[in-house]
Order: sequence, then structure tokens, then C-alpha cells
Amino acid sequence: MGGCCSVMRRKGKRFLNVNKFEMIDGRRYQRLDDSNYALPNDIEEEERLDLQHNYMKLGFGGTNFSAPVDALLRRGARVLDVGCGSGTWVLELAKEYPNSYFVGLDLAPVILPEKKPDNVEFTEYNVLDGLPYKSNSFDFVFARILLSVFTRAQWTELAVPEYARVTKPGGWVELMEFDEALKGGCENVDRLSKAWSDFADSKGLIASPGYDICDFLKQSNYFTNVNYEERHIPVGPMGSQIAELGIRDWRDVWRAMKLVLSTTMQVSSEHYDAIAELALQELMQYGCTWINMRAWGQKIDYGFVADQDHI
Ligand SMILES: C[S@@+](CC[C@H](N)C(=O)[O-])C[C@H]1O[C@@H](n2cnc3c(N)ncnc32)[C@H](O)[C@@H]1O
Repeated sequence: MGGCCSVMRRKGKRFLNVNKFEMIDGRRYQRLDDSNYALPNDIEEEERLDLQHNYMKLGFGGTNFSAPVDALLRRGARVLDVGCGSGTWVLELAKEYPNSYFVGLDLAPVILPEKKPDNVEFTEYNVLDGLPYKSNSFDFVFARILLSVFTRAQWTELAVPEYARVTKPGGWVELMEFDEALKGGCENVDRLSKAWSDFADSKGLIASPGYDICDFLKQSNYFTNVNYEERHIPVGPMGSQIAELGIRDWRDVWRAMKLVLSTTMQVSSEHYDAIAELALQELMQYGCTWINMRAWGQKIDYGFVADQDHI
């Protein structure tokens, strides 16, 4: 197995500063030249992430995670959500499990819709610098939809080893990702999926890491009891609550990805809008399927030592 020392960390840290945002075409982006992340972070995106949270939760039968940690969280545990986005997952679980303590980490500040509960903290941090926590300090580490955060190498040499490092022996790590290509044979939906896949390839990202996350956990050799669950979630046609949530989410995904996808497709802003509108009509009329995956595993006690802490 790769020891903790094999964690790939970047040389030097990039601290967030006052010039950390830039506005492009009415959307706010994080300005960080060494981040892979290309989506906006603004109120519109936070609202999309909230909607997507509810949609994916419905898709997994109303559950927020699949690892067998319910009893642990009821008793009281320390939980980390890496790339926590709008913070909804953290806030929801903090209410459901008042004996547990929740930490949400994200590059972007979380805009709280309500007063922060006492059992929650949020940290602004770039996960490409590693995780700013001591080894063996969380009972459950969760990371959802970080497909545009890590390159293939970073998944296996940085993300998974860091998640393992900060998890207590016997604690759990859960990853959730999806297949970016919606299934259904809709012409314009497929064009947008292909553009994402081309962009991902050009950046060394994995277009659809949902198919890899279980192997990442297994092959890291940090985990035992590794499990996997896959759900096929409807995105349209109109007619059911979940399918209509899916349409709204994907409409907003394509809006959020406009800068990246229109550049990759080499089409004008107007042409891109027309393709996205046609894709939306296809979803409303015919519908597609979105494949989502969760993989989770329990950390084996290999005994990480203190001088490997990244704090
Ligand atoms: C697609 S969103 C997913 C958010 C959340 N996990 C969810 O499921 O709703 C990806 C998140 O990763 C964050 N992110 C991107 N690059 C990051 C980095 N280098 N370090 C920490 N967070 C990052 C973004 O700000 C964004 O909130």
C-alpha cells in the first residue's frame, strides 16, 4: 500500500486573498490560477447546489449517505464534508444528529441561510494543499461531486490518501460522484456531455469519476468493507417531482458550465444558449437518466504517525 508519505502535495500554498473573485459574463468565479475548478461560485450556484442536494437525496431514497454510520452519528462523531458547497448537507445532518460535530471545508465562503448551529464550523481552504486537520481526527469523511476539483493523479495521490489520513481507524470515508453523460440518446444533451468530456480530458480531470471511486478506495489499501451503490435517476420528462427537479438542475448545470462548455465547443454565447435550450426541450419531452454512485469504506488501522499531519 502507499503510505501517508506518498500524498502528493503542491509546493507552497496559495492563500485566499481580497482579489479572490472575478466576474465573467455576470457570474462570479474563484480566481485561483492553480485550481482546476471552472464553475462559478455565487448565489445562483449555491441555489443550484441546494436544489441538486434535494434532487440527489431523493434519487437515493431520501438518504444523505450510504455508509453504516447512523448509530455512530447518533452517539456523537466528528464529521468532515470536503468541498461542502452551499453547506446544505452539513446543516441538514447537524440538525438530525445534534450529538455530532460537523466541519464543512470549501474553497469558497459558505453563505449561510440561517444562524450557524453550534455543532457546525466552515473553513475556507484549498484542498489541493491537503487537508488542514490532524491525522485520525474524524469519524466520517464525506466528499460529493468533486469531479471538477481533482485530476486523475490527484484523486489517487492526494484526495483519497488525505481522506484516509484524517479519518480515525475504524472510521468511514464516503465518496459520491456521477456519470456526466446523461443516458437517453438526446442529440443536444449528448453534445453538451461530449463538450464536458473533452474539457475534462484537456485538463486531466476524470469526466465521470463515479465509475472509479470504488476502485480508488479499494486500490488505496487504506480501507476495508468497501461498498458501492449506483442509482439511475430520471432527468425529465415532465410529470414527476424527481424528474422535474432533474430538469431544473441540468438547466442550471449547463448555465453554470457555459463559459467552459462554449469555449470547448468553440461556439458563440448565443449559439451555446440555443444548444442548451434545445437540450432542455429534449429533457422535458423525452427525458434522460442520470447515473449516480456512492462508494464507502472503513479505514484500516495502519497507524499514521504525527509528523505526517498536514496542519
Ligand atoms: C460541484 S460543487 C459540490 C458541492 C457539494 N459537495 C455538494 O455536493 O453540493 C464542488 C465544490 O467544490 C469546491 N471546490 C472546488 N475546488 C476546490 C478546492 N481546490 N478546494 C476546496 N474546495 C473546492 C467548490 O467551491 C464547490 O463548492
